[in-house]
This record gives sequence, structure tokens and C-alpha cells, in this order.
Amino acid sequence: MTHTLKALAVGTVSAIGALLVAGSALAADPLMDRARDLFKPLPASIPVVKDNAVTREKIDLGKMLFFEPRLSASGIFSCNSCHNLGLGGVDGLETSVGHGWQKGPRNSPTVLNAVLNVAQFWDGRAEDLKAQAKGPIQAGVEMNSTPDRVMAVLTSIPTYKTKFADAFPNEKNPVSFDNVAKAIEAFEATLTTPAAPFDQFLEGKADALNDQQKAGLALFMDKGCSACHNGVNIGGQDYFPFGVIEKPGADILPPGDKGRFAVTKTADDEYVFRSPTLRNVALTAPYFHSGKVWDLRQAVAVMGSSQLGAKLNETEIDQITAFLHSLTGQQPRVEYPILPASLPTTPQPMLR
Ligand code: HEC
Ligand code: HEC
Repeated sequence: MTHTLKALAVGTVSAIGALLVAGSALAADPLMDRARDLFKPLPASIPVVKDNAVTREKIDLGKMLFFEPRLSASGIFSCNSCHNLGLGGVDGLETSVGHGWQKGPRNSPTVLNAVLNVAQFWDGRAEDLKAQAKGPIQAGVEMNSTPDRVMAVLTSIPTYKTKFADAFPNEKNPVSFDNVAKAIEAFEATLTTPAAPFDQFLEGKADALNDQQKAGLALFMDKGCSACHNGVNIGGQDYFPFGVIEKPGADILPPGDKGRFAVTKTADDEYVFRSPTLRNVALTAPYFHSGKVWDLRQAVAVMGSSQLGAKLNETEIDQITAFLHSLTGQQPRVEYPILPASLPTTPQPMLR
């Protein structure tokens, strides 16, 4: 009798204990709660784009144009040359190399998730992706073409005329430079990278991050990195001086590039840059607009001293770097498009 009672009591206690343990796993995870206040998981669906309905036909055409080297004067450079979708949407160079082997002034930022940035370029000078896309096609150090030349190329190729008509139905002149930019924007809107371990963590999967990454996430918030790198893109939303507390050396922050000052002409904007998205940052070395830093650990250390006046120790640097690795998402699966052949009337490549 006493034995039975005792056994029953013990059984009940352990059952309640098990319930409590299960309950706490579901409810209180303070780290997850804090992170959810500052960051948002990437949506699995294609983001809505302002003034440009993203349709299947536009995405298909935009993909062809993204990989189309004949948008460049030389017939050599496509968007994918410097934003290689097999390499995290970058070229992996210090600063990009374009027309005539010229070296441009800045490092190529990733096109992955760029649709979610507040504005485009390191200095935010293009309002959105359709405004942005017209830049590189005409830039002398990039694709070195002109809107007229691009129109001459595209209208010489019947398949493109059909594709533009399908993508922009009911338009009188569907083949236009504006529509080139809109189609590319629609394709770029598909280049998001959902389901990174950190997204899974934000969605409630506590073991999606390992202990080192969790320690790194806590530091990322405690030290103040998240003041500038937050929201759905873990950055990309606002502008800040590079060197809030301490200017990095001229090797990392070359004095000639004053960043957003060139856009706004306000003294306050000297050496101000858009805080980049940190999604997929483990794939996109070298770092900073100058592309001078090849090691993500060093980039983290530079941020600590320049932006926060914090000298991070080796363990902290390792932990934050491990957290940054959890921001690598599913890379878009892009089937290489087959492009229509040139005709004798298509403008020929101009190498100089
Ligand atoms: C020669 C290399 C090169 C080519 C070709 C090129 N880009 Fe870029 N791209 C860059 C560089 C460098 C930057 C940064 C320039 C700056 O901030 O001033 C950039 C910036 C961008 C950005 C801004 C991303 C962000 O986060 O701010 C997007 C989007 C982009 N390019 C898309 C394209 C598209 C679309 C094409 C084709 C029409 C293209 N690029 C062609 C090198 C290139
Ligand atoms: C005051 C705002 C601010 C704070 C705080 C801040 N950053 Fe940044 N971060 C920036 C800006 C702006 C850049 C772009 C600098 C440039 O290249 O001109 C940047 C660039 C980076 C880059 C390079 C990304 C790339 O694609 O090249 C990394 C990595 C980074 N930050 C991580 C961190 C970490 C980790 C912390 C905390 C230790 C941190 N940041 C704190 C604003 C900030």
C-alpha cells in the first residue's frame, strides 16, 4: 500500500517535471525573443516591387538580359560577370574589372536580396533596382554601352522582340531601355536566399544555431552591431559614417571616395555609406566598398573598433563570425538561359 502510493507520487512528480521542461522549451527563449524584435526572417515568396508587377514573362526576359553580354559594348560583360550567381552574386575582386580591363573604383556588392535594400549602390544613389540597372550598362568602366546601342542590339534579334511583347503586353513600344531595366528588376526580385539557419532560428527552431553562433548573435546585439545591421536584410536600410568612432586607415577607407557626400553634397555625408546587408556575407569577400579586407574575421574586428570603439577579443571575433556564417541562405537555383543568336544586322562588338 505505502509502496504503491509512493510510486504513484513519484510518477506524478516526474510527469509534471516533464511537462514543465516541454513547456519552457516552447515558451521562454530570451535570445530568440530579443532577436525577433530586431530582425525578420526572409519571406519565401518573391517581394512586391514598386511600379513593376513581377510576372513570369518579365522574370524570364530579365534573366536573359542579366546573362546577356551583348548589353555591353564589347559583348563580353553581362551583369553576371560582376554579380556571378554561382559566387554569391559578386565577382570576388577587390574592385570590379570592366570594359577594356579597366578597374572600377568600388567593390561589387551582391545582387542577392538587393531588392530588399532601401536604395542601391554603396552610396544609395539609385532609388531602386530599375533605376540601378541603367547605370552599369552605360558606365565607361563597366559595360560601356548606350541606350541606342542596346536598342539596336535587341531590336535586331526577333526572339527579343517577341519576349518584350510578352513581358510588356498592351505597350506600343515594348522594346525600350526602361523595359530592359524593369525586366532585370523583376528577375533580381527572385534572387532572395531564404531559410538560412538564422531565419530558421527566428522562426522558432532553437537548434538551428550552434552555441558559438548563439553567443555571436548575443554579442552582435549587445555590442551594438544590430543598431546598423538589422531588419529583414540584416542591414541595407540606412546610411552611416564608416568610422563613427575611429576612422579606419587609408588602406581600408581610401580618402578619395567620400561615399554619400557625392549624392547629397552635405558635409555631414562625407565618408557615409549604406550599411550593407550581411546576408550571405560569408560568400562575398573581399569586404567594404574598397574591397580591401579579405578575411571576414578582420572585417568584424574593423567594425568593432571603427563603428563601436570596441576592441573585440579573439573569442568574440570568432563567435560573431560564426553567427555571420548562419546568414548564408538557400542560393537561388538559376538555369542558365539559352540566348538567341546575333544576326548580320546586330551591332558588332566594340573592343575599344
Ligand atoms: C564591371 C562590373 C559590373 C557590371 C558589368 C555590373 N555591375 Fe552591378 N555593380 C558593380 C559595382 C562595382 C557596384 C557598386 C558600385 C557603387 O556602389 O558605386 C555595383 C552595384 C550593383 C547593384 C547595387 C547593389 C547594392 O546592394 O547596392 C546592383 C543591384 C547591381 N550592381 C546590378 C547590376 C546589373 C543588373 C547589371 C547589369 C545590367 C550590373 N550590375 C552590371 C559592378 C558591376
Ligand atoms: C554605426 C553603424 C554600424 C555599426 C554599429 C556596425 N556596422 Fe558594419 N557596416 C556599417 C557600414 C556603413 C558598412 C559599410 C562600410 C563601407 O564599406 O563603406 C558596414 C560594413 C560591414 C561589413 C562588411 C560587409 C560587406 O559586404 O563588405 C561587415 C561584415 C559588418 N559591417 C559587420 C559588422 C559587425 C559584426 C558589427 C558589430 C561589431 C558592425 N558591423 C557594426 C555600419 C555599421
